[in-house]
Amino acid sequence: MPRKLLLDKINVEGIKTFEVYRANGGYASVEKALKMAPADIVEEVKKSGLRGRGGAGFPTGMKWSFIDKKSGRQRYLVCNADESEPGTFKDRYLMEYLPHMLIEGMIVSSFALEANLSFIYIRGEFKWIIKILEKAIAEAKAAGFLGNNILGSGYNLELIVHTGAGAYICGEETALLESLEGKRGLPRIKPPFPAVSGLYGNPTVVNNVESIATVPWIINNGGDEYVKIGTLKSAGTKLISACGNINRPGVYEIEMGLPVEEFIFSDEYCGGVKDGKRIKAVVAGGSSVPILPAELILKTSAGEQRLMSYESLSDGGFLTGTMLGSGGFIVYDEDQCIVRNTWNFTRFYHHESCGQCSPCREGTGWMERILHNIEYGHGKMSDIDLLWDVQSKIEGNTICPLGDAAAWPVASAIRHFREEFEWHVLNPEESQKRNFGLIEKTLVA
Ligand SMILES: Cc1cc2nc3c(=O)[nH]c(=O)nc-3n(C[C@H](O)[C@H](O)[C@H](O)COP(=O)(O)O)c2cc1C
Repeated sequence: MPRKLLLDKINVEGIKTFEVYRANGGYASVEKALKMAPADIVEEVKKSGLRGRGGAGFPTGMKWSFIDKKSGRQRYLVCNADESEPGTFKDRYLMEYLPHMLIEGMIVSSFALEANLSFIYIRGEFKWIIKILEKAIAEAKAAGFLGNNILGSGYNLELIVHTGAGAYICGEETALLESLEGKRGLPRIKPPFPAVSGLYGNPTVVNNVESIATVPWIINNGGDEYVKIGTLKSAGTKLISACGNINRPGVYEIEMGLPVEEFIFSDEYCGGVKDGKRIKAVVAGGSSVPILPAELILKTSAGEQRLMSYESLSDGGFLTGTMLGSGGFIVYDEDQCIVRNTWNFTRFYHHESCGQCSPCREGTGWMERILHNIEYGHGKMSDIDLLWDVQSKIEGNTICPLGDAAAWPVASAIRHFREEFEWHVLNPEESQKRNFGLIEKTLVA
């Protein structure tokens, strides 16, 4: 049986409540951590090899060790619960069904960082989850796990749920901090990184929901135990939200290193492609990562089995590989149109660009219009090269990685599915006919 570290108790009745969560071993890591030195907790997380689950995969313990404790300035921990990436829906699941696991992680992580005020910055649309979290925080506080003098240890912590307004850009950590300060969510130029100058100019760690929820397991069982699970460069388990043309969409906890083929076809996970169709393509880590054709997602260009891990999915760089990203796994069957999908993603990035950097502000709009023309049978062959040109001018030329996130889906779609773009140009009438009626649907949506 595959090991589950986060979701093992998700089906226990009442696990959302403090009482049941506690009766099932919940908050044990807080009791243990409060007897440890904060620096030792940081060391334990370093040892675990845990990499940030928000997308970039930066080692969590290392990030924590950058935080400036010497200056004596107030330190903050901010949990990034913005989760707006198309295809990624694992954090909301964790927060909705295991709210106390996140709160437990927030307490231990805040103690490790010696922070007395911490925040969960949550996407505004998650209204029902905000209520769940607030209720869970009140329960934890009533039981003495939050507030002043937690469990008589002398440690104080206030935990605040702060609601965003549903902007994708506010998931970028520095835009998030701006928004948390009450300003417009515009990404900051880095350096300085948040560990040096974050919220209100003070040392701040921003971590993803899943990263923080993993900390209790590491403290309970030790970093050495965690690093034994998964692969050399991808320790532990990972939550994957699977959707698209599969039989069993949902959120799965996998051990890192699971073969992609097994993830797609096993009844334990996706259960194969719907209606027995063939796979055409997969987006493995949320809309921002390069799309790969079936042959490259199942095997690397060297012919090795592709695994669900940071290193295996990125094997071959962007020429033949992709990224694990935030774990949003989207499967496309043989009937799906890659041009349409790319246009749809690009519409999203155009809409969500904060407008601060010209390449992203202007480029995403250009890409959307060119893709729309091609998809609807009004494109020219030269438009495909123009599209390539525009995406290449965005990548690497913006303050935050939203620009890269907008460019990569376009570049990879042209790289691997150029003939589909050409088909639309060569078959304008069929392209128009095929899309007849869809324009209205899109506009209504
Ligand atoms: C446009 C954009 C949106 C992002 N959205 C999220 C998000 O919703 N949740 C998240 O954890 N990280 C998101 N990130 C990544 C964060 O900037 C940051 O790397 C992450 O929260 C760090 O946490 P981790 O180290 O635990 O992964 C986003 C990045 C960008 C550029």
